Amino acid sequence: MPEHALTVQALDHSFGDLQVLEGIDLTVGKGEFVSVVGPSGSGKSTLFHLIGGLLTPSAGQIAINGEPSVGRRGRIGYMPQQPALMPWRTIQDNVVLAREISRKKVDRAQAREWLARVGLEDFATAYPHQLSGGMQQRVAFLRALLAEQELLCLDEPFSALDAMTRTEMHRWLLDIWEADRRAILFVTHNIEEALLLSDTVYVFTRRPATVLERITVPFGRPRRDEVVDDPEFVKLRRRLTDLLTGSPR
Ligand SMILES: Nc1ncnc2c1ncn2[C@@H]1O[C@H](COP(=O)(O)OP(=O)(O)OP(=O)(O)O)[C@@H](O)[C@H]1O
Ligand SMILES: [Mg+2]
Repeated sequence: MPEHALTVQALDHSFGDLQVLEGIDLTVGKGEFVSVVGPSGSGKSTLFHLIGGLLTPSAGQIAINGEPSVGRRGRIGYMPQQPALMPWRTIQDNVVLAREISRKKVDRAQAREWLARVGLEDFATAYPHQLSGGMQQRVAFLRALLAEQELLCLDEPFSALDAMTRTEMHRWLLDIWEADRRAILFVTHNIEEALLLSDTVYVFTRRPATVLERITVPFGRPRRDEVVDDPEFVKLRRRLTDLLTGSPR
């Protein structure tokens, strides 16, 4: 059994003359929750597109569960930064889409049960345009989760949510994840969110992105919201803020 859900080694990527990623080394252990924070435009979504096989890197290696995965699709549960729901499919049919594509059993009753858990039980047969941006994000999140891949890549899944809903979603995500430890790679701009959820936080520099720092988050599991008041949490939040605003590099 490979010990890592994801290994990224010496990854470079350029779009024509624009170099976006430079020598990225990153691992996500089995059942580990890893976040990436970095300036806007540094290449975080590009990294996800490479891991998901939508793009082929200029150089470097990607392995998912120990298998070389450059250019291979369908090996991760992926939630894109834009929810990308199919407008002609109902919400429940959007939720089961990833399963349908990977030929897994499609279970609409299960989809509805999950929709209820994110407060969308009344929208199972609605269409995406009838939902707010934040509601669409929750649907896209469920879809990634129900794909049942061992590695989930979530690209700013909660960015469109208000602070209260975001806190609810954190609780919900931690409950799910603590119960069935899948590996998660999570992009966020929110430092507090990264520290609250993760075992490890990678800080990227501006483009071309390199790994500025890899921070181990020392708090145990299950982790509760009160951790934000811990002096060590406050110190780490300060450190991350400094790294990100100190215009490093
Ligand atoms: N398909 C593409 N073709 C050309 N350039 C691209 C393409 N996709 C992304 N870029 C460029 O690559 C850089 C990194 O984009 P990316 O979306 O990965 O950033 P990001 O870190 O996810 O930013 P944000 O935090 O704002 O989501 C940007 O300068 C963007 O313009
Ligand atoms: Mg992005």
